[in-house]
Amino acid sequence: MNPEGIRTIAVLGGGTMGNGIAHVFARYGYTVILRDVERQFLERAVENISKNLDREIRKGKLADGEKAAILGRIDAVTDLDSISRADLAIEAVPEQLELKRRVLGEADRVLRPEAILATNTSSISVTALAAATQRPERFIGMHFMNPVPIMPLVEVIRGLQTSDETFEAAMSLCKKLEKTPVAVADSPGFVSNRVLMPLINEAAFCVMEGVATPDAVDNVMKLGMNHPMGPLELADFIGLDVCLDIMEVMLEGFGDPKFRPCPLLKKMVAAGWLGKKSGRGFHVYGGN
Ligand SMILES: NC(=O)c1ccc[n+]([C@@H]2O[C@H](COP(=O)([O-])OP(=O)(O)OC[C@H]3O[C@@H](n4cnc5c(N)ncnc54)[C@H](O)[C@@H]3O)[C@@H](O)[C@H]2O)c1
Repeated sequence: MNPEGIRTIAVLGGGTMGNGIAHVFARYGYTVILRDVERQFLERAVENISKNLDREIRKGKLADGEKAAILGRIDAVTDLDSISRADLAIEAVPEQLELKRRVLGEADRVLRPEAILATNTSSISVTALAAATQRPERFIGMHFMNPVPIMPLVEVIRGLQTSDETFEAAMSLCKKLEKTPVAVADSPGFVSNRVLMPLINEAAFCVMEGVATPDAVDNVMKLGMNHPMGPLELADFIGLDVCLDIMEVMLEGFGDPKFRPCPLLKKMVAAGWLGKKSGRGFHVYGGN
């Protein structure tokens, strides 16, 4: 599909990433169909988008009058058939292979044959996800970073069968959103999470082994390495469940024990301490 012909975007999943992706596309004039499984998740997603737009207004990045028009371009739906008019759909449901395969298979059946299907997966093979559809040549990885409205990078990942046309369309779309696309190969965790997640995982081991408290670990990395956020603060922000899922995918994908998830991370996820979104992770968050 010609990038100019892409005007309507479906976003599958309205969580942390889905609402950010919907925000950015609507902000740049695209019509967005945001789909989640329950009304309450969509309400939360639209509320987050509204709050994030307010922040952009406060920072002088967006004119006050534009907010209503941006929100007006987002159609929040629970029924799958509503996505049939999309030119491109981006999947942003949890990082689990079987769930993603199901969601992508369903979307593939509803979308027009010429539409592009993209996944925001952080670590799962794009080639394997493409195989859940009948359009592997029009399937691609578009890995946006969190928070999507702020972070400039999109890792663009070609599956084995992704066509040049689909790749060019994805690259051009990122530029239209004023993002910087970086093409990387289809390998577990791509580049971003292959480098980042072992850092977070090792930070969790430091806490588990009593080497340092979460605050101390974060301070070492902020003050000593000039990282803007400590690794555990970042893990809380990403979601500890998301971090665990990514470590599991890399462990399975590489078969290398260096990717084994820290037992403390597993335990915290089992306890429902998922980070900022649940009010508690390595740190405790008020008002959530
Ligand atoms: N959190 C991050 O920092 C981050 C960064 C980059 C990429 N990612 C990737 O983005 C994807 C989504 O992560 P997230 O953090 O937004 O997760 P999340 O748990 O915040 O959101 C997932 C959303 O998907 C919805 N969902 C579940 N099943 C669905 C279905 N069948 N149809 C539509 N919606 C459905 C859930 O209700 C939820 O609202 C994952 O693949 C993750 O690895 C996450």
